[in-house]
Amino acid sequence: EKGGYPSFMEKEINDQPSAVADTLLGRADAAGKLTLDELRIDPEELAQVSKIIVLACGTSAYAGQVAKYAIEHWCRIPVEVELSHEFRYRDPIVDAGTLVVSISQSGETMDTLMAVRYAKEQGAKTLSICNTNGSTIPRESDAVLYTHAGPEIAVASTKAFLAQITATYLLGLYLAQLRGNLFSGQIKDILADLGKIPAKVQDVLDRADQIKELARSMEDAESVLFLGRHVGYPVAMEGALKLKEIAYIHAEGFAAGELKHGPIALIDDGQPVFVVVPSPRGRHSLHSKVVSNIQEVRARGAKTLVVAEEGDEAVRDYAEFVFYVPETPTLLMPLLATVPLQIFACELATAKGYDVDQPRNLAKSVTVE
Ligand code: M6R
Repeated sequence: EKGGYPSFMEKEINDQPSAVADTLLGRADAAGKLTLDELRIDPEELAQVSKIIVLACGTSAYAGQVAKYAIEHWCRIPVEVELSHEFRYRDPIVDAGTLVVSISQSGETMDTLMAVRYAKEQGAKTLSICNTNGSTIPRESDAVLYTHAGPEIAVASTKAFLAQITATYLLGLYLAQLRGNLFSGQIKDILADLGKIPAKVQDVLDRADQIKELARSMEDAESVLFLGRHVGYPVAMEGALKLKEIAYIHAEGFAAGELKHGPIALIDDGQPVFVVVPSPRGRHSLHSKVVSNIQEVRARGAKTLVVAEEGDEAVRDYAEFVFYVPETPTLLMPLLATVPLQIFACELATAKGYDVDQPRNLAKSVTVE
């Protein structure tokens, strides 16, 4: 059942092209019009929402953070992303104009379930993005959008994450369509770019050896830092979480812009730092800012491990190691840049002799608060 792979985690990493493709399947017609009928929520009501609150834990919360960039950009609706267990206990402002989007692979995470119940009590509309048919959270929500990643067995979430990002993007595009924030041609173009993601993920997987070799050489690392900006920031945090949970290595992900506000003090000789570099074709000159961050940490002795877009030659001079992902629009980059970080964690944990599918102290579904 592991499909010839040594672990479920490795299999699930390799399942990601179909996890994304299956989540996209049947959601738009040939003209690029989204038809999310399964949502079971009145489109008119949905078009009226004034605020979105995304609730989730762990990896699913990082998918929510990625979604915030896309949904705010496309729909001009404010999106807050909050850990479910924090939301409930802080007297949040929720009303009938609030759409609460929960993201949960299992659909059974107690923290998220309790937060959804609380939001419902406060009068919010609740929509669940979930990978498990008929599980509790979608059953208790007003609407559901299933991710079609297939069952995820390994404790460390991989394919569900890519499918969750895909599903939140479909939701964002659907809202933009209902509200008229984007022209139909724009939506069609973004859907076409999303449609190219599975093949691009496959391209990354086909070059997994590059990153595996790096991972095996870093078996003795005691701490690894991950930097990213914009959508690369949640990717950095997800890369760090993977390493903590299966390789038991101290890892921290942070926003590259925060470096000089504290974390740069951590850098000394040999400190490995992964940097997720935005596309040089993107807006806001973020690329050059992140390249400066690579230079800054390198000047202080860091071992710089870079994930960048194909053709980005500017990073080569400052990187000890570069992994290139195929070109894609900035907002879609997490669907590619996360994959080498998953492979890195999986291979490093395997090299250390750990059971990557069943890490210590963790359960696949956290059904207690
Ligand atoms: O089933 P859920 O998506 O609600 O689970 C949320 C987290 O417990 C989960 O993502 C956890 O962080 C993973 N083990 C991360 O790999």
